[in-house]
Amino acid sequence: MQRTPLIAANWKMNGSAALAQQLTVTLATLSLDTTTVVVCPPATLLTRFNTPGNFALGGQTLSHESSGAYTGEISAELLQEAGASYVIVGHSERRMLNFESDELIAAKLKQAVSSGLTPILCVGESLQQRQQEKTQQVIARQLDAVYASQPELLLKSVIAYEPIWAIGTGESATPQQAQATHAFIRQHLAQYDAQAAETVKLLYGGSVNADNCAALFQQADIDGALVGGASLKPAEFAQICLAV
Ligand code: G3H
Repeated sequence: MQRTPLIAANWKMNGSAALAQQLTVTLATLSLDTTTVVVCPPATLLTRFNTPGNFALGGQTLSHESSGAYTGEISAELLQEAGASYVIVGHSERRMLNFESDELIAAKLKQAVSSGLTPILCVGESLQQRQQEKTQQVIARQLDAVYASQPELLLKSVIAYEPIWAIGTGESATPQQAQATHAFIRQHLAQYDAQAAETVKLLYGGSVNADNCAALFQQADIDGALVGGASLKPAEFAQICLAV
């Protein structure tokens, strides 16, 4: 199965209008061929990118509601109006710091798809869960919460495996560790829809940088990356986009 690669930048609560301009200029020099690049800045910066460019924009979260009295929230429609066509859903930082449950994440993902945004669903285990050999159990639970009752959403999704212990630590999973979990994810998803499981893009996230990305991208089930810290450095992010 031939899957085209995707590299996503998650700026988290970082960046600036000036960095948006710098990254736009840097990405414009790249010949990206079939690689899709998605930049997910803070929502206030979405309109500060020069679009259309050779990359797409994404939000970092969205409300599970379409509109209403939800102070501080942002809807799928508002993200789209600001230029987004993707949205990150279920990042571990939101699961932990904003207490987002599996159920809420499932509702958000459904809202994204029904509004025409492509969700990038994040799954991954903590260090303790890995040490207790619960990685597969945790990820199966996170996937089941979204797709068990709505398998049709899989065809519209991108999934990012982000081991929490590798996020922002400078210690990426090894290519073998990442590949083993990606293979498990694809195998697990096949019980819902075998064809969709083969076509869904699986990204790896967690301390991806210009030095370690090529070995990760050589793995059979790794179709790209969700890049945090290194996406704030335009030249390094460009190198990652060209390595996939
Ligand atoms: O969404 C991105 C990830 O949390 C990875 O962040 O590349 O800074 O480790 P990182």
